[in-house]
Amino acid sequence: MSELTGPRQVILVTCRGSLKKEMSTEIQEKDGIIAVAWHMPVSKEPFLYAIAIGKTRFTHQLIEQSQSFAVNFMSADQKEAIIKCGTISSKHIDKFKEANLTKEECESIDCPRIKEVIGYLECQVKQKIPAGDHTVFIGHVHNHKLNKDKPRLYHITKDKFAQTR
Ligand SMILES: Cc1cc2nc3c(=O)[nH]c(=O)nc-3n(C[C@H](O)[C@H](O)[C@H](O)COP(=O)(O)O)c2cc1C
Repeated sequence: MSELTGPRQVILVTCRGSLKKEMSTEIQEKDGIIAVAWHMPVSKEPFLYAIAIGKTRFTHQLIEQSQSFAVNFMSADQKEAIIKCGTISSKHIDKFKEANLTKEECESIDCPRIKEVIGYLECQVKQKIPAGDHTVFIGHVHNHKLNKDKPRLYHITKDKFAQTR
């Protein structure tokens, strides 16, 4: 399917949630990062941005709990970090450390974002649409910024990627 609908720009979504520790009643705060190719703007006024997150992903639990997320637009030279965030889970590891990305705090929501970005959106979940094996989270963008633009990474299929010049 991705060959038919792609290539699609790969972004990193960051999130934070408080979840019950496995086999315990203790609550722990977890920060997560996930690579996402299924995303798009869906409204100009108000500014709304949609992401599709697999229901089995750890990220899904974090966003369900916190109702917020940040969209991080990455440059193609971050390909290795992007793929790492798209192949391992935040459940047991710190992806910021693992992918060598610097954590910053969002200004408008209680959520981490990534320092090494082209730009970002800080989103509060406004609507949630179940869609088969994914959930579409529509975020109200409370704060956004574009730094200097750079070539972006696009996913074609499997391990095939392209980039803009
Ligand atoms: C290029 C690429 C694009 C991806 N796009 C999505 C996506 O749009 N939605 C999604 O739920 N998972 C997507 N994934 C898969 C997740 O990034 C991957 O399963 C990740 O390890 C989940 O992390 P988590 O367990 O910490 O949530 C993509 C992976 C890659 C490599």
